[in-house]
Amino acid sequence: MTDKSFDFSATHKKWMERDSAVVLGWRYHPKVIFRSGRGTVITDVDGKDYYDLNSGMMSLPLGHSHPEVTEVIRDVAGKMVHQSSWYTNPWAIELAELIGSTLPPGLKLVNFAVTGSEANEIGMRMAIAKTGKFDIVSVIRGLHGGSLAVEAMTTVGGGRRKGLGPLIMPARANAILPPFCYRCSVNLTYPSCDVKCLKTSEELMEHLTTKEVAGVIAEPILVPGGMIVPPKEWLPRLKELTRRWGALLILDEMQLAPARTGKFWAFEHTGTVPDVVTFGKGMSAGFAVCGAVTTKEIADEVSGKLGLPWSGTYPGDPLACAAAKKTIEIVLRDKLAERSAKLGAILRTKLEGLRDRYECIGDVRGEGLYQMLDIVIDKKSRAPDPAMGERIRYNLLLEGVAAICVKNFMRVSPPLIITEAEIDDIVGRLDVAVRRSLEGHPKDVDFSSSSSLAETRGRRAAE
Ligand SMILES: Cc1ncc(COP(=O)(O)O)c(C=O)c1O
Repeated sequence: MTDKSFDFSATHKKWMERDSAVVLGWRYHPKVIFRSGRGTVITDVDGKDYYDLNSGMMSLPLGHSHPEVTEVIRDVAGKMVHQSSWYTNPWAIELAELIGSTLPPGLKLVNFAVTGSEANEIGMRMAIAKTGKFDIVSVIRGLHGGSLAVEAMTTVGGGRRKGLGPLIMPARANAILPPFCYRCSVNLTYPSCDVKCLKTSEELMEHLTTKEVAGVIAEPILVPGGMIVPPKEWLPRLKELTRRWGALLILDEMQLAPARTGKFWAFEHTGTVPDVVTFGKGMSAGFAVCGAVTTKEIADEVSGKLGLPWSGTYPGDPLACAAAKKTIEIVLRDKLAERSAKLGAILRTKLEGLRDRYECIGDVRGEGLYQMLDIVIDKKSRAPDPAMGERIRYNLLLEGVAAICVKNFMRVSPPLIITEAEIDDIVGRLDVAVRRSLEGHPKDVDFSSSSSLAETRGRRAAE
């Protein structure tokens, strides 16, 4: 294959320079500047289209500018965008009711937040307030946000925590070993292992905690840590373990709900009901409306303690709630969980086809329309190859697909409205990108400062 390069207009290049001059942010190379989006496609300032392979930051289950959501945004923008948090509005109440209707009976009380990090910190406050204990135990390779208390719960590696020293709240403890069968932490094989990683984790909890465990926080599928889909016994057993310790189970669904994995909530795959579930990203329709949901019993006990219910300037604002509510209504009305399961199976088969052809794709993992390629040096060693991941991401962008690759993990999480023909087209372009990368293209481009590689050198980006 011949080398290929980007051809940006002078105007586009000027935008790139202006961005570098005034905005401090993470950027992939080249830093394409996008100005619009529709459905699965985003368009740069030169008018060139790209597939948005990750629904923004996994936040747009309906894709960009869905006409019905846009209509609601226009309508509510003309009525009320923001209000005092000491009052509320019909959209926030209706959104909370709608979220409750998707959850198992009991989980009904929504404490709104602005970010997912905040939502998880609310969950942690709830656990501490409910139990009167202090330790929050998290799963190694989990990610729960970037504010300092949840950074302490976050163990995806790279440089996120480097240098933060005592600002990181004593984690007490990142004690649960990841149920990562592809790179097993106890060097066994499922199912004969009988999920030994969890048994070992309980021993670690004995030794690493103060034995005053208030909560266990986990993602039902650990996405940023490497799309770790636990064996089916893991989550139910994690809940039993949590109960043995008299703690609350907080499940972080930020990357997973709504409907992305083929169920509305990912914990439905195993029927494990948490005490607190946190949501953001896809549930928030691209606006900053996240939250933690718990039972009335827990809510009653924790209210008035530890700053709960948590509030701030923006949680539950009308415009964000209206957009989120409309988005979730459409996800339910159009049965997008079923669609995600069906199209996810098709996507998976096609990605496995690539894995079988290319040595650098060690594994394909995921559920529904959330799949991930694990980019490796070779299949035998399974050694992570973030540089190749970045090369593939770059070449994929050249093929007109904007994707997120963090470390050696290439994410495939398109809007749930994607069609089979589009999946076909995207996988075809990915095929070209992998081939081009294996041939060493691009030959003369330095993308070593591109976000995903910079991250591995000791800094952090949003995940
Ligand atoms: C699983 C998970 N939890 C929490 C967060 C934090 O969310 P936010 O960036 O909205 O604070 C993220 C962000 O990527 C996430 O992936």
